[in-house]
This record gives sequence, C-alpha cells and structure tokens, in this order.
Amino acid sequence: IGIRPYTHEPFSDFGESRTRRAFAEALQRETARLGRHCPLVIGGERIDTSGRLVSANPARREQVVGTAAKADAALADRAVEAAASAYAQWRHAPAEQRADLLFKAAALTRRRRHEFSALLVLETGKPWREADADTAEAIDFMEYYGREALRLADGAPVLSRPGEINRYRYLPLGVGIVLPPWNFAMAIMAGMTMAAVGAGNTVVLKPASNAPVIAARFVELLEEAGLPPGVVNYVPGSGAEVGDRLVDDPRTRFVSFTGSREVGLRIFERAAKVQPGQLWLKRVLAELGGKDAIVVDRSADLELAAQAIVASAFGYAGQKCSACSRAIVVADVYDEVLARTVKLAQQLTVGDPAQLGCEMGPLIDRAAYDKVMDYVALGHREGRLATGGEGDETIGWYAQPTIFADVQPQARLMQEEIFGPVLALCRAPDFDEALAIANDTAYGLTGAVISRDRDRLEQARREFHVGNLYLNRGCTGAIVGYQPFGGFNMSGTDAKAGGPDYLALFMQAQCVTEQL
Ligand code: NAD
Ligand code: ALA
Repeated sequence: IGIRPYTHEPFSDFGESRTRRAFAEALQRETARLGRHCPLVIGGERIDTSGRLVSANPARREQVVGTAAKADAALADRAVEAAASAYAQWRHAPAEQRADLLFKAAALTRRRRHEFSALLVLETGKPWREADADTAEAIDFMEYYGREALRLADGAPVLSRPGEINRYRYLPLGVGIVLPPWNFAMAIMAGMTMAAVGAGNTVVLKPASNAPVIAARFVELLEEAGLPPGVVNYVPGSGAEVGDRLVDDPRTRFVSFTGSREVGLRIFERAAKVQPGQLWLKRVLAELGGKDAIVVDRSADLELAAQAIVASAFGYAGQKCSACSRAIVVADVYDEVLARTVKLAQQLTVGDPAQLGCEMGPLIDRAAYDKVMDYVALGHREGRLATGGEGDETIGWYAQPTIFADVQPQARLMQEEIFGPVLALCRAPDFDEALAIANDTAYGLTGAVISRDRDRLEQARREFHVGNLYLNRGCTGAIVGYQPFGGFNMSGTDAKAGGPDYLALFMQAQCVTEQL
C-alpha cells in the first residue's frame, strides 16, 4: 500500500462560520466535561491514588479542568516494570505495525481535532489559533515519524567486500522516560512519546503537572488506535519524587526531556551516573530554554520587523521556548521600530482564550505570574517601560504585553529566560554589533534577522549561532518536516524534533557481518 508523501496539516480557517461554530461547540462540550478524574495507566490498567494533581484553567483560576492521580516512587517503579515487560514484544513489532499505530493515532486526532484544541484552550490558556496549531503539530509529528519508522526499517547502506555481506540496521533502545513541558501540551507531549514508540521502544510518560488531562485524553486515544498495554504508561507525579526516581532507575535506557534549563541540567547529570545493575550508558535528549532574538537591520522593512517582533514576543503570552524576548535594532531605525512595535503590542486583544477574538491569554499559573511580575519590576531598573507592565490575577494569571526599551546587552532582562510577555529592546550601533549581542547569551535556540540587504542576510547565516535561524520572518512557529527544531549551547542537545535525524536518536545501530 502506498503512503502519500508527508505534508503538514493545514490550520483551521476560523474565517469560516462552519469552523467557528464547530470549535465553539467543542468548547461547550469540553466545558461540560470539566472536572473529570484521570487515573494512572500502567500496563493498560487504570490505577487510582489518594494523592491528586489538580489542573486549573489559567484563564479562570477557580475552574478545575480535571484531576489526575499522583504516582509515588513505588508506582513509578511499577510503571518501569510494565514498560520493560511490554518491551519484550514491542521491540520486535515490524516497522509497518509501529507506523500504522502512529498513522491511526494521527487519523483519530484529526477526526477529534477541535476536541483536543478546545481542551488545550481550557487547560493551558491557548487562544483558538494557537491551540489549533498545537493539535495540528501533534498530527504532523505522528505522520512524519510514522514515515521515518518505515524509512529506517531498511537500515542504511554500507559496503561489502568480496566474500562478506555487511548489513547495517537500527534497533530500538529499550524503556524510555518521556518528560514533556506544558506549553505545547499536545504537540510536544505526543511527538516525544510517539517518536520513542515509533522507534520500537516502550515508555513511561510523566506529563507536565499543569497539563495532565490532555495527556490522559491522548493516552485513551492511543488505546483506541490499538496501542498494546504497557507500551505507553501514563504516570503523572511530582518532578522531584517521580521524575528523579524514573531518571535514576537502572532499567531505563533513555530519557527524553523537553523543559527548563534548570531541570534539564539536573536530569543530564543524574542520568550520567551509572546505577548498580545498570547495563548501559543512558541516552539523554534534553531540549531546553531560549533567549531568542530578532535582529533588525537598517535596510529592513520596518513594519515587517514590528509585526515579526510582536507576533514572536507575545504569541501564547511569550510562553514558547522560541519566543522573541530580545529585539536588537540598529541605531538608525531603533526609534521607528520601537514606536511601531509598541503600537502593535497595544492593539493586541488580551483576554479569555475561550473567546475567538482573544490574541493573548493568561500565564500558566501563579509561579509563572509571580516570575513575570518580578521581571517587570527588574525591567524598571534595567530599562525604560515603553508599554504594559501591569498584571491582573483576579480571575486568571494575566500580564500585559510589556516592552522595555533601552536595555543593555548584559542586563538580566537580556540574558535570562522569562517565559512570559516581556520584551527587551536593545539599541546596537551597527549590524556587526547587533549580531554579536544576539550571540551573547548562554542559549542558542531560535533567532531572526529582518533585512533587505543580501550581504547582511548571508552574514547572519554564517554568524548567528542558533539552531533555528529565520530570515525576514518571526522566530516562532516551526513546522514539522519543514523546520526541524532544536537549539545550540544551553538550549539543549539539538535533537531537531520533526526532522530527519530525530527518530534515529531513539535507536541504536547494529552492523552484522557474515563471512561467505
Ligand atoms: P520544566 O523543566 O519545569 O518541566 C518539564 C518536564 O519535566 C515536566 O514534565 C516536569 O514535570 C518534569 N520535571 C520537573 N522536575 C523534574 C525532575 N526532577 N525530574 C524529571 N522530570 C522533572 O519545564 P516547563 O515549565 O514544563 O516548560 C517550560 C520550559 O520548557 C521553558 O524553559 C521552555 O523554554 C522549555 N521548552 C523548550 C522547548 C524546546 O524544544 N527546546 C520546547 C518547549 C519548551
Ligand atoms: N516549535 C515551536 C516553535 O517553533 C516551539 O515556536
């Protein structure tokens, strides 16, 4: 059976009244289902616990989206056992079977697309379009990795001399731990999980504590798609207790983590320690934070620059690893870019993401809100407030789109990941210096350059040290299969999710030589 070549899932067109109505109905249905409880799923068995995680709507802090059972160390051990036992069969599943599982899960997600997006709106505070893109990306990951599983099933070509046959093939790794973030609670969670499974591994999925409900819904969908028991085990719990336990377990072969630099470094170090009884060196994929910059050259289309900056800085309230948190503008056009950027930021509709017109919703929780407000206070010392700066926590965790102008390159606002709608604008004397400032960070995830000058664009290609570089557009919104995603330096291991090298990271290569 032929499989059509991969293309990415189109976004829903909310300009169409039929689509708007369908999405609004999905939101109503999901609102009616709020408060449901999600037990653990270990070896296909539902297990409840006395401890609970409560997932609240960040736009309406009193609204409980759902609760999840909370695993402890003993249940984490049991989940690893279930994954190890399922691995005995799943490791031998032919590539066609693994790929079919991914394709089926993608098809089911496509059919229930608005349901998942509506749940993302309620659980993670994403406006309609962002939630829709999140679900579309999950479908993309599964479609793309399914095809990658089939491609890698043939191994890779190697030479054979007369009298011998050499074959080079890819085998799965074993039991993996999947630790996704909450900010792409569907796409990254599903992508990380299904890449590992598509490569023939079994996993323990510990969802982010702010988004356990969407992950539980996805695990149900996988079961409907034919997932064998134990291949994906759903184990919400505290990062410190359950996370550490899973990472330390000598039976786990790899850890796939996407999240903060702080937690990622902790995992990287812990996983490096070989535990008693451990037979391998653990593989760690750690995709971490960013301090991403858009550089504006004097030749730039200044309206394009302002639009790119505002969309990249304030999309999902700046809660993207790819978000533009620094705009570095050459002096000649600095005042003009600042004025245009402020104007566009002030036009954004901030509000309840359940409303179609909302362009920017809330922060995810109190900790994020407090952190952003602390950085706003710092911004007053490190720069000049150009717009925003206020928070409102009465109903949800809202912070205004905020811009600080005249921030110096070494300021904390220019160096530390804030993960909120706070943008620092920095004046650079010329383009060379602008690129140097952009590179002067511990991170290296995304970056963009806005310029009409071919030499400047080529210079950026050579010198801007980021995993995802964009020329004449914003720095968010990578598409699976088109812009494989991952960063340099403290932005992580540059796994390039959604790219041609990703699936092999969940595999080990074996060369078999037969002497004739
Ligand atoms: P986080 O580091 O707090 O948590 C990530 C995951 O790790 C969660 O599932 C969490 O429960 C788990 N965890 C926490 N402590 C743990 C421990 N000790 N052991 C094992 N697991 C543990 O990150 P977050 O707040 O969920 O996400 C935001 C961060 O993720 C930002 O820094 C953002 O830049 C980054 N991010 C990076 C990418 C990327 O591709 N580079 C994509 C999205 C988000
Ligand atoms: N992959 C996401 C983006 O590109 C984080 O914005």
